[in-house]
Amino acid sequence: MKFFVDTADIDAIRELHELGMVDGVTTNPSLIMKSGRDIKEVTAEICALVPGPVSAETVALDADGMIAEGRELAKIAENIAIKVPLTWAGLQACKVLSGEGRMVNVTLCFSANQALLAAKAGATFISPFVGRLDDINIDGMDLIAEIRQIYDNYDFSTEILVASIRSANHMKEAALLGADVATAPPNVIKAMASHVLTDKGLDAFMADWAKTGQTIL
Ligand code: G3P
Repeated sequence: MKFFVDTADIDAIRELHELGMVDGVTTNPSLIMKSGRDIKEVTAEICALVPGPVSAETVALDADGMIAEGRELAKIAENIAIKVPLTWAGLQACKVLSGEGRMVNVTLCFSANQALLAAKAGATFISPFVGRLDDINIDGMDLIAEIRQIYDNYDFSTEILVASIRSANHMKEAALLGADVATAPPNVIKAMASHVLTDKGLDAFMADWAKTGQTIL
């Protein structure tokens, strides 16, 4: 499973990238707002740092507007994936932009039918939001399983990019279900390294080591 990092925070991306944990980046209008940066400027910096796909989201609500914005965002770098919402207009924009050979990430997906339409419209990535489904007491991971089955049934090449990930457990579940990509905030990726028994075991080793009076260096 590829790891995308869901942030426009350059320092956080750099730290994870140095460890080989970043296969791509996703941003959205909320994350750009949070960064306090100009969208083109910060996106260009991210693209220069990370060679994998970097999603930049359009904000127009009509297809022509999304297409124009998508073409403009694609000028930033070769590795831009244009993000459009899963609306009818978004599907129209996806069809045109993907037909031009551009990567398109169709976002705000909450149903298997939406994912089926995105695949038929030529999406490179479909972004189902698991956390926001969990928020309304619908198991987000059930949707990932459904999309996986449908895409496999018909050999769709659209990659399932699990989004709105809120916990390390979401990462594990996405990987178990065969998601192609998971995008997560930096703190969630770092939390995957934590285990209470690791901490406890390390404490015990350190206590015993102190009793030996030895040093290694
Ligand atoms: O990738 C989508 C993500 O940014 C949304 O996450 O936690 O706001 O639902 P969240």
